Amino acid sequence: MDREAAARSEVSAPAPGTVLKALDQIPDPGGAPADHDATPILIVRRGETVRAYINICPHQGRPLCLPSGKTLISEDRFIVCPFHGASFELDTGAGAGGPGGGVGLKSVAVTVRDGQVIAA
Ligand code: FES
Repeated sequence: MDREAAARSEVSAPAPGTVLKALDQIPDPGGAPADHDATPILIVRRGETVRAYINICPHQGRPLCLPSGKTLISEDRFIVCPFHGASFELDTGAGAGGPGGGVGLKSVAVTVRDGQVIAA
């Protein structure tokens, strides 16, 4: 998936039932990119809360995690873009501060089943 196309909302969500990541591979609290090449997806968790977002920062279109996959979480409730510090509510993806202009993240519907995060 081309990141500019994804940023323009030309993103198709993975088919329901697509396995995106093993839950135990996601730090708690924290995040990790999905094991799904067709669409850049970041999965974040805090305890039993698991959410997924298109892994593109609305500020300049960069990934929301470091190349290692490490995702910066602040105060156990904000995803922080590692490039310029835009922050987003972990639970909703709403813009919460920094240079993103308050624009939120695009959600990807997921569920957890048998220890796997799956597209819903
Ligand atoms: S690209 Fe994320 S804050 Fe700039």
